[in-house]
Amino acid sequence: MPTLKICMVFFLTMCTMACVSWASSLKVGFYRTSCPSAEAIVRKAVSKAVSRNPGIAAGLIRMHFHDCFVRGCDASVLLDSTPGNPSEKEHPANNPSLRGFEVIDEAKSEIEAQCPQTVSCADILAFAARDSAYNVGGINYAVPSGRRDGRVSLKDEPSLNLPPPSFNAKELEENFARKGLNLDEMVTLSGAHSIGVSHCSAFSTRLYSFNATHSQDPSMDPIFARHLKAKCPPPSNSGNGRDPTVPLDVLTPNRLDNKYYTDLKNRHGVLTSDQTLLSSPSTAGIVRNNARNGAAWSNKFAAAMVKMGSIDILKGSQGEVRKNCRVVN
Ligand code: HEM
Ligand SMILES: *[C@@H]1O[C@H](CO)[C@@H](O)[C@H](O)[C@H]1NC(C)=O
Repeated sequence: MPTLKICMVFFLTMCTMACVSWASSLKVGFYRTSCPSAEAIVRKAVSKAVSRNPGIAAGLIRMHFHDCFVRGCDASVLLDSTPGNPSEKEHPANNPSLRGFEVIDEAKSEIEAQCPQTVSCADILAFAARDSAYNVGGINYAVPSGRRDGRVSLKDEPSLNLPPPSFNAKELEENFARKGLNLDEMVTLSGAHSIGVSHCSAFSTRLYSFNATHSQDPSMDPIFARHLKAKCPPPSNSGNGRDPTVPLDVLTPNRLDNKYYTDLKNRHGVLTSDQTLLSSPSTAGIVRNNARNGAAWSNKFAAAMVKMGSIDILKGSQGEVRKNCRVVN
């Protein structure tokens, strides 16, 4: 008898643990019954915005990355500053370059009209990044959902978590490892730089003030450097706050594909953090494989986006579901 009792307690405990962990992990189709059109509403808002301006797709994919690396994928990147509390949006990594906030707002208000306070902003952003990848790259994947929104966003936190464009392969590897992403995933996700733009300020030292003996970064093709210099005046001449942009992928700037890796082989990487992936022996082989096999890269990219989308998420009853993605409830 006592053995039976112990057995029952044991099984009940196991079930409770299993059920709790099951209920609190992300799930594809999380809103199937609570808000069946949620994903379709996001898809429509993204398609409309991207057909007007393909750069929005780049903006939304980068926004999801900047969300997930800072306090996890909790939509902290979407919160506006409040008096005395500057948010992540004010950090130079996000301001003024992050774009696409209005697309999230539009999807959110349409979703709120149908299913009030049901679909989190963090999930809307994850769906929007996926829909962007589909729109400009034909890359499709199911997005596990059920994230909850955080209540905190601090201006200083992006510096502690987001890699700067000056990082080398070793530093990038360490930065991504702290978020649970491995070397291959780091190189694969960097392929997002096959769309969108960079401001000149993110790489102008490579053109004008590399180091004591080389004004120009010797890992960059000199003809490509000349082309970039024509678009990016020396920092001292770019007064009045002008900071032009150049495409990150010179071959197919609006197509999410593996041509970014071909750029690296041509020494046409725009950022130090791009070109270092070919210069470094630990990642050069991955770059070459991704350049050779576009289909394999696309599959790895989709899987790595899903993994990135699960970093430090809030689940179950943690956090909240915001009514407005810009403000906590
Ligand atoms: C590996 C480390 C990374 C570094 C150092 C880095 C850095 C940067 C920088 C400096 C820019 C230019 C911003 C500007 O001046 O406007 C940029 C743009 C961009 N990044 Fe990254 N990034 C990294 C990884 C990623 C990842 C993992 C993703 C997404 C999966 C991503 C997506 C993008 C996109 C799409 C753009 C273009 C944005 C636009 O056109 O609005 N990046 N990145
Ligand atoms: C400048 O960079 C080049 C190329 O990376 C390197 O060979 C050289 O040693 C560096 N010079 C100084 C003074 O750091």
